[in-house]
Amino acid sequence: MHILTGSGIGRACALLFAKEGAAGVMVADLAVDAANDVVAECKAVATNSQFQAEAIQVDITQEDSVRRLMGRMIDVFKRMDYCVNCAGIGVQKAVDIAGMSLAEFQRFLDVNTVGMFLVTREASITMRAQEPQAVSQSSPGRGTTRGAIVNLGSGSSMIATPGVLPYTASKHAALGLSKNSALDNASHGIRVNCVCPSWTDTPMVREAMSGVEGLSKFIETAVPIGRIAMPEEVADAVIFLCSPRSSYVTGCGFLVDGGTTLTALR
Ligand SMILES: NC(=O)c1ccc[n+]([C@@H]2O[C@H](COP(=O)([O-])OP(=O)(O)OC[C@H]3O[C@@H](n4cnc5c(N)ncnc54)[C@H](O)[C@@H]3O)[C@@H](O)[C@H]2O)c1
Repeated sequence: MHILTGSGIGRACALLFAKEGAAGVMVADLAVDAANDVVAECKAVATNSQFQAEAIQVDITQEDSVRRLMGRMIDVFKRMDYCVNCAGIGVQKAVDIAGMSLAEFQRFLDVNTVGMFLVTREASITMRAQEPQAVSQSSPGRGTTRGAIVNLGSGSSMIATPGVLPYTASKHAALGLSKNSALDNASHGIRVNCVCPSWTDTPMVREAMSGVEGLSKFIETAVPIGRIAMPEEVADAVIFLCSPRSSYVTGCGFLVDGGTTLTALR
């Protein structure tokens, strides 16, 4: 069972879990209508005959809201095998540090960092309370697991970009909190990883493109592969980090960036 969002990368992950035979997904988002739409889409493509899906509203900045989400998850699905945390906010307009308001800085930390902390903490508590299961029936050496958590970082978890200080700070924190929670959770059989995409074709980036002139052309130049990522390409990395194939991977910042962070030369 999985926690995703009703937009962009979260939507792509939910659809991929459904297509790949997951028993169920819970789609949690501040925008509950979008979450409901994704549930309907998942049901249409699910390959598991027992597939169950539910949408729920959550505000990841609120402790009670995140706790309610985890409680509902266990009531409905009895277990949480994976928690994929795709909720976040992006930059719509570049602002230099000298003109950056405290309120704007805090807004990014609230959603992208505090929200990620709350989801990761509550998922850790929920997973620690459940019985371990074999990672793979056919490969017993892989041991047992209580679950896997995947947080969405960014290329901005590794490098800086002009004018996006709050985003960069919040995404460096996302990688740090993923690494530390991976360490704290390792002996409990819970893996935590951070997927770090660069520009991906989602509503977040389309909004940025409408606010920043020339961004679309810039992306083509800045990305060595020469194009924006499809959300499905990020979802592939998320599914890998949830699957038995990544049973020895924890605490990693997994770049999915078409080579964007390889060079400073653009
Ligand atoms: N799209 C990109 O280019 C890109 C690149 C690197 C990293 N990321 C990261 O990937 C993640 C997903 O981005 P996306 O492009 O799919 O964005 P998106 O805007 O399409 O989706 C983000 C979702 O988060 C939800 N959300 C926002 N605040 C919330 C809150 N307080 N509680 C619950 N839900 C909330 C929104 O309603 C939205 O549905 C984000 O963390 C983003 O920073 C995106």
